[in-house]
Amino acid sequence: MTILVTGGAGFIGSNFILDWLAQSDEGVIDLDLLTYAGNLDNLAAVRNDDRHVFVQGDIGDKDLVARLFAEYSPRAVVNFAAESHVDRSIHGPEDFMRTNLFGTFTLLEAARNFAATGAPEAGNFRFLHVSTDEVYGSLAPEDAPFSETNRYEPNSPYSASKAGSDHLVRAYFHTYGLPVLTTNCSNNYGPFQFPEKLVPLVIHNALSGKPLPIYGDGKQVRDWLYVTDHCTAIRRVLDRGALGEVYNIGGWNERPNIEVVQTICEVLDELQPRSGGQSYADLITFVKDRPGHDRRYAIDASKIERELGWRPLETFETGIRKTIQWYLENQTWVAKIVDGSYRTWVEKQYA
Ligand code: NAD
Ligand code: DAU
Repeated sequence: MTILVTGGAGFIGSNFILDWLAQSDEGVIDLDLLTYAGNLDNLAAVRNDDRHVFVQGDIGDKDLVARLFAEYSPRAVVNFAAESHVDRSIHGPEDFMRTNLFGTFTLLEAARNFAATGAPEAGNFRFLHVSTDEVYGSLAPEDAPFSETNRYEPNSPYSASKAGSDHLVRAYFHTYGLPVLTTNCSNNYGPFQFPEKLVPLVIHNALSGKPLPIYGDGKQVRDWLYVTDHCTAIRRVLDRGALGEVYNIGGWNERPNIEVVQTICEVLDELQPRSGGQSYADLITFVKDRPGHDRRYAIDASKIERELGWRPLETFETGIRKTIQWYLENQTWVAKIVDGSYRTWVEKQYA
């Protein structure tokens, strides 16, 4: 038995694979294009593990995806592969449409063909699509958190492309009866997150003595979830979720950005004080706001708790401390991204 994970060299996908292989003997086929966000260093711990088969390739490559289904007959697909960074989608949305929309479509088509083959694994097959709370748009301070029945109101090219992919997944269930599950999750943080996202960027800049950029007034609110909690939730939905259903996943940890950054500074002040006795918070710098910046996201995660018995284990305080400790202990991982040498493996493949 095996599962096909896409985007498994990225932040959440690699955490998921490490967690999966630590808990089960079932193998993983990991299909990842290794864009700038894919990093095989994330998977160093399973490099020599026969249960992990890495395939470099595009989820939008129809022939490749069909070949993987035919060769491995996966009992499930977990689709993490995506362009994931909102700022990049504002500056260049094309890759977001290609991967998030067309790539998901290609995978769904391959899954539909596979499910129709009558292979034994096709009988219990499941397609789990990993999506985001950003598809629901922005909340006012007095609004209730997003529930699964909220209207889709995506505001960035990234969230619009994810919303489109969610709609395709829904359509494949209703039209073709493909056994799908969709999860919409809030902001993740933890080990192996590419240092373009707020938490790892702030940790890295602070340790390098660089400004900590806060967009606008810093009062935008996000709901923070430690990545391992997200992985546990996905596993739970894959095991017990009802086909065709959507599950919101969140940490019950709403925080304004400025508070997130101040907390990181306080923990760093304690764990690795700056020379000269200044606080890292002195590096906080307010910069121009992100265009179309959503003001508030918050997840109502009561459906997954009620129906599948999942709740996050980490609070923001415990999760952020673990995360900072991990970055302090793994500064070479960050340094290889900053100097570009984490790409060496990919470049060798293309040489
Ligand atoms: P990431 O950017 O760290 O990783 C994405 C991975 O997908 C990379 O390894 C990349 O190489 C791969 N990839 C990109 N295009 C591909 C393609 N065409 N074919 C195959 N592989 C491709 O992203 P992440 O933060 O780990 O997010 C994973 C998923 O979870 C995404 O679908 C994202 O929308 C969703 N999500 C992320 C968060 C978050 O806070 N990071 C929250 C909710 C949902
Ligand atoms: O909500 C889930 C989403 O969370 C995921 O779907 C996305 O893939 C993921 O990237 C994340 O999106 P955000 O835009 O919320 O994450 P980001 O880390 O880019 O920004 C978090 C908040 O911090 C946001 O309000 C913008 C702000 N920010 C971000 C950066 C990079 C800053 O103020 N300064 C920064 O330098």
